[in-house]
Amino acid sequence: MNVNEMRRELQNRLKRGRFAHSIGVANTAVNLAKRFGADEDKAYIAGLLHDCARQYEDEELIAQAENYSIEIGEVEREMPLLLHPYIGAKMIRDVYGVEDAEISQAIWRHTVGAANMTVLDKIIYFADMIEPNRKYPGVEELRTLATTADLNTIMLTALSESIIFVVQKNSLVHPDTVAARNFLLINKKK
Ligand SMILES: [Fe+2]
Ligand SMILES: [Fe+2]
Repeated sequence: MNVNEMRRELQNRLKRGRFAHSIGVANTAVNLAKRFGADEDKAYIAGLLHDCARQYEDEELIAQAENYSIEIGEVEREMPLLLHPYIGAKMIRDVYGVEDAEISQAIWRHTVGAANMTVLDKIIYFADMIEPNRKYPGVEELRTLATTADLNTIMLTALSESIIFVVQKNSLVHPDTVAARNFLLINKKK
């Protein structure tokens, strides 16, 4: 599939607002890729497709995870929406013909992060938080970082904000988000 065909397929599958968000993430990811020296084509495709499994309800998410032999952790069992990045990372091959391991990993990691993220992983994670359709308190400060801070400072801030956000909601903190943040802090000192 070429990129035009991918966009059309995605548009058919997602609700209007989710599709607009996906285009926003794709364009934001390209800008970040230019600034941080990542592959712009991969950034666009990863951004475009990052939420390609986002339309499924909880029951379907569980079924799709089982279909792809994705391990369902205790946090995901409690919040099946957290399965959409893993299913998306697998679906891009079947539905969009994308076989690139870096794109797949960036999609896999876009929601809760992971230790030792690549530049592309970080770009997609952050683009998802700041694309132009996003509206929440503090988003402007994060957008400013996109042009002023280095990528690890950006990620540290973004991960800390996410942890604060879920704690304030009394929600579960995913262990991979803690691992992502700890990794950055530990390796900063070295
Ligand atoms: Fe997502
Ligand atoms: Fe998203």
